[in-house]
Amino acid sequence: MFLDVSALNCQTARMNKRLKYPTPVSVSEAVKQLNNGAVVAMPTETVYGLAGLASNDYAVLSIYETKGRPRFNPLIVHCADINMAEEIAEFPALAHKLATAFWPGPLTMVLPKRSDAQLSDLVTAGLETVAIRLPAHPIAREMIGNLGKPVAAPSANPSGKLSPTSANHVIEGFGGEVPVVDGGDCDNGIESTIVAVGSDALTLLRPGSISAEELASVTGAPVGASSSAEIVAPGMLKSHYAPNAAVRLNAETANEGEVLLGFGEIGANAKNLSPTADLREAAKNLFSFLRALDQTGAKTIAVAPIPNEGIGIAINDRLARAAADRKD
Ligand code: TXA
Ligand code: MG
Repeated sequence: MFLDVSALNCQTARMNKRLKYPTPVSVSEAVKQLNNGAVVAMPTETVYGLAGLASNDYAVLSIYETKGRPRFNPLIVHCADINMAEEIAEFPALAHKLATAFWPGPLTMVLPKRSDAQLSDLVTAGLETVAIRLPAHPIAREMIGNLGKPVAAPSANPSGKLSPTSANHVIEGFGGEVPVVDGGDCDNGIESTIVAVGSDALTLLRPGSISAEELASVTGAPVGASSSAEIVAPGMLKSHYAPNAAVRLNAETANEGEVLLGFGEIGANAKNLSPTADLREAAKNLFSFLRALDQTGAKTIAVAPIPNEGIGIAINDRLARAAADRKD
C-alpha cells in the first residue's frame, strides 16, 4: 500500500507540538537544564524523581507546581556523595553509621538542617530538618555529580497518583511537558525508607526496602514508629499513590467487574506481582502493574494478600494508601 510519508511527518510534527519532550533527553542536556533552573525527571533505583536545583527558589517552586503538590509537604534532597550531604545537614553518630551501611541506596535520613545550608526554604517547607539521600542509580549519580550541587526531587508523578518506575510513566504523567532522562525500569520500584535520626533513637517515617530491623541492627538504636500527630511526613496524606480505579485489598478472587492483581498462587492466571511469591519482585512490579490494570478501565482492582514482612510491609503501606478513601 502507498505510504504517505508527508502525512506521517505532519502527524509526528503535531505530536511533537503537543508533547514538548516526547522522547528522553541525555544526561548532559539534563545537567544544562538543571543549571538553568529547569526541572528534569531523573531515574533512581527506587522510582523516578522530579529534580531541580535545591538552592534555587524558582526551580523548587516549579517542582511543586509541576506536581500540583501542597507546599507544606517538604522534598528530599539528593546528593552525589557524603561531603555534599554534610554541607546541608548535621550528622549525629547514628547518621554516620546508617550512611556507611546504606548509602548510596534507598534510605532517606531526616536530619537537623545546617544553618548555613545552601537550600531554598521551600525545599524543607520551613522545617528545621532536611530529608537527604544518596541515590545508587548510576545515572542519578552522574547527573548530580556533574552538576556538583544537590537536587531536590520528589517522585516524578502528579501529586497523589501512582509513582513512576519507567521513563514512559513520567512522559504519560506530565503529558511530555518535562524532560526525562531514561534509566530503564527502576530496580526497587518502591520509594526509599525514610527515617528521622535523633541522637540516640530512630523514627521510621515511611517503610521501604530497608527494614526497621536492618536499621536497628546496624545502629544498635531503637526504631520507633511515627505517630501522625507528631510528624507530618511521607505519604502521611491518607489517600496517596491512587490509581483511578478503586482498590480492594486481601482479595482471593476477582468479583464481577473487577480485575485481579495476583501474588504467589493467588491469581496464577491473572497479572501477578510475583508468581514465586518473591516480595522484592512484587515491589519492583507494584506501581507498573497497578498502572497497567488501571488502564484497562476496570472499576476496581482486587489485590491478593501480601505477607506483611520485610519489603511486604512497604508494599502493604502503599496498597493501603491506594485503597484509602479518596474524599479526604
Ligand atoms: O525513593 C524516594 O524517596 C523518591 C526518589 C525520587 O528519591 N522520592 C520520593 O519523594 O519518594 P516524595 O516527595 O514523593 O516523598 C518524600 C517524603 C514526603 O512525603 C515528605 O513528607 C517527606 O519525604 N519529607 C521530606 N522532608 C521531610 C522532613 N524534613 N521531615 C519529615 N518528612 C519529610
Ligand atoms: Mg511521592
